[in-house]
Amino acid sequence: MAAMPTFHDVLRARLSRRSLLTSGLAAAGLGWLGPAAWAQSPLGFTGVPVSSADTLVVPRDYVAEVLYAWGDPISDGPAFKPDASNSVDDQLRQAGMHHDGMRFFPLPAGQTGSTHGLLAINHEYTDDGLLHPDGMLTWTAEKVRKSQAAHGISVIEVRLTGNRWGIVRPSRYARRVTAATPIGLTGPAAGHAWMQTAADPAGRTALGTMSNCAMGYTPWGTYLTCEENFQFYFVNRSGSVPALQRRYGITERGRGYRWHEFDERFDAARHPSEPNRFGWVVEIDPFEPSRPPVKHTALGRFKHEGAALSVAPDRRVAFYMGDDESFEHVYKFVSRDPYTPGDRGANAHVLEHGTLYAARFDADGTGVWLELAPGRNGLDAGAGFPSQAEICIAARVAARIAGATEMDRPEWIAVHPKTGEAYCALSYNETRGQPGRPGPNPANPRSGNVYGHIIRWRERGGDPTATRFEWDVFILCGDAASPDANRRGDIKGDAFGSPDGLWVDGRGVLWIQTDVSTRLLNKGDYAGMGNNQMLAADPVTREVRRFLTGPRGCEITGATGTPDGRTMFVNIQHPGEMPSERSDPATPKAISAWPDGAGGGRPRSATVVIRRVDGGLIGT
Ligand code: FEO
Ligand code: CA
Ligand code: CA
Repeated sequence: MAAMPTFHDVLRARLSRRSLLTSGLAAAGLGWLGPAAWAQSPLGFTGVPVSSADTLVVPRDYVAEVLYAWGDPISDGPAFKPDASNSVDDQLRQAGMHHDGMRFFPLPAGQTGSTHGLLAINHEYTDDGLLHPDGMLTWTAEKVRKSQAAHGISVIEVRLTGNRWGIVRPSRYARRVTAATPIGLTGPAAGHAWMQTAADPAGRTALGTMSNCAMGYTPWGTYLTCEENFQFYFVNRSGSVPALQRRYGITERGRGYRWHEFDERFDAARHPSEPNRFGWVVEIDPFEPSRPPVKHTALGRFKHEGAALSVAPDRRVAFYMGDDESFEHVYKFVSRDPYTPGDRGANAHVLEHGTLYAARFDADGTGVWLELAPGRNGLDAGAGFPSQAEICIAARVAARIAGATEMDRPEWIAVHPKTGEAYCALSYNETRGQPGRPGPNPANPRSGNVYGHIIRWRERGGDPTATRFEWDVFILCGDAASPDANRRGDIKGDAFGSPDGLWVDGRGVLWIQTDVSTRLLNKGDYAGMGNNQMLAADPVTREVRRFLTGPRGCEITGATGTPDGRTMFVNIQHPGEMPSERSDPATPKAISAWPDGAGGGRPRSATVVIRRVDGGLIGT
């Protein structure tokens, strides 16, 4: 057996890869990166300092305004009640909680305007301590329904008037999808025995989507919402949790959502297939509110963070996807069929067929996309995979057998629109190298990785359907001056840790959003690092500059912009969150009163709009 590489071995390999990839880019003469681009930073704003104040801070000459907070009506619906006494029916016509991934779709459909459009917004989870007037002190079927109604997705119509965005009310596009909305299943696992339940013996229609974390979009104008921590909502008190449920994190107790007490499908002992109907990528047409969402099983089942699009020269579509848990994997899906511009009917089936891969990052700076298919990479009937259906449902198990690299919590992935390079946030993994846990590997070079890192890769030949790639570590987060090699970062510029949201804008700026866990914010290894934040990075020079700091207890997640680069939408998730992730209804503003302030009832997640005061390009 080969000796485990030391930190310095992997660091040396990583640095040599970085110079190779950078010089490779230069040699490739990637048109847009001319000499002027190398000399001139695309970051033109004045950075902001760290902050632990209960406020949202953006650079001078910028303005940030709250557009759409939890409880705001999607259309001409009911107003938010600050004591959280809105009913289930109200909540079904209002913004859900905990805004996450998001995408701006210009109106009219298929156009590239920047003053009118739709925002599709994920509502990842709920704080039921804030959702009901008395939190979870009492527990009823009504509260379960309200909690389910506060999950899912919003579609709202937005318009710019002067220098100010507002929500169009009423709107024929306004829509909520929740944890109880009927959603069709397509692809290899649809109808499979493992997908069949008492309520849906055909195994072709799931009820609801939840844990909608990061996102994606298609070239044909649909939104992809990705189901992440679905396991938190299930309990299995059988005394013997089946192996597949255990592999996806289902436990005896769940995470305290208590849905199973009034909605028995979340009792995974009674309904063992129900969890298999979550953990998918869900396609939603924001322009057709009556069209049901669809879960595409061909893209695999895991704790999906997002689905980052890259289009091949022949118009097949590739999506890069992270499975956000320590030691889980990075995946890629490549469609069998190309999409057809302008043919919405045909494109509705593109995500039903394709090839699923998992990534192996090798020490020489190259990597392999390992095909997850019967007969490939150790996946056969003997290993429990007689068909693609089992591979899709148990994708984690298949990827591990195939030899995919165990990563440090793959969160968002973003594709550079001009180079095709993909960037992947590896949030952190304190347990790497701990007793009984895997040690460092070339792509995850630090034991006890408390700060996280960002890797990037470039497909061989620049083709997103390739099965080989080159990679390097783009940024190691943490303090560049730390005497501890496992805590020492190499950031050129403003410090940060726990990268999560990523977005590359049309100018090629990489935007990085942080999600330092509430239990760590401003303490221990994160002392002095302030509230969660958003930074801009130059992919060429690696310079990092802090653009925004959030209010107390929030994470920053979800970023999208208008095609003209003059408006950015950002989500502020869970301001005021307690380490337990459940607030005390007696003191809802114990940590944060954002955005409503002292006069408001409780903190609220919200979409904010950011513009330059002069209406100019964001970030310049
Ligand atoms: Fe929902 Fe991995 O963040
Ligand atoms: Ca995330
Ligand atoms: Ca996170």
